[in-house]
Amino acid sequence: MKLKKNNKFIVAADGSAASGKTTGSKIISRKYGLKFLSSGLLYRYAGQQLLKYKPKNKIKFLKLKFKKLNYNKINKVNLHSSKISEYTSIIAKQKKIRNILKKFQQNFASKHKKVCIEGRDIGTVILPKADLKFFFICNLKIAAKRRFKELKKKNKFLKFKNVKKELQNRNLRDVLRKNSPLLKSPDAVIVDTGKDRNITMMINKMSKHMDRKILDKYGN
Ligand code: C5P
Repeated sequence: MKLKKNNKFIVAADGSAASGKTTGSKIISRKYGLKFLSSGLLYRYAGQQLLKYKPKNKIKFLKLKFKKLNYNKINKVNLHSSKISEYTSIIAKQKKIRNILKKFQQNFASKHKKVCIEGRDIGTVILPKADLKFFFICNLKIAAKRRFKELKKKNKFLKFKNVKKELQNRNLRDVLRKNSPLLKSPDAVIVDTGKDRNITMMINKMSKHMDRKILDKYGN
């Protein structure tokens, strides 16, 4: 099934840390011609900038940063250190910070028409009217192995038990926070990357749902 040039189609992909949502969302975006945005990267960028510049007024500082932000540029910065990951999940609790990033994400969706945004609150808060919502889940040990493999390339002294503990803490913080917690929207399709371990199985499953929704909406 293919989307035509003028079709509008919005995909929301949420899930816990290292649940495979970025990999799945990127492949599906390429396959169906959707513009992809990782909102986690936006939060990480906000965290990294606050750590770097330590501004007195965080909100004013971030408002300015996100006004002129070039998303393609932040894709190139390394934003995945433990320090940035932890600090990011702490600042992500603040409503005023979330509102700045919410505006950026919603503008992105209305500008591009065919989009996929991944994060924690996309299907519930950012794009509640998305055409299709995915919710990624994964057993903690498998998710930690996945993240460990990625990070080990950059840090050979890294310990598996630390990566697992950090993921667990971050997930707890994301689930338990008051503002926009990580939550499955009732209409989201579950993608369990602990079960569908290989990427082909995951993509086949996601594609089936994509094809059905495109057919329902456009009969393409
Ligand atoms: O997705 P990723 O693991 O890169 O996200 C980093 C952190 O950013 C998360 O642990 C979470 O605290 C925050 N985040 C969020 N809402 C989103 C995306 C990310 O609170 N939509």
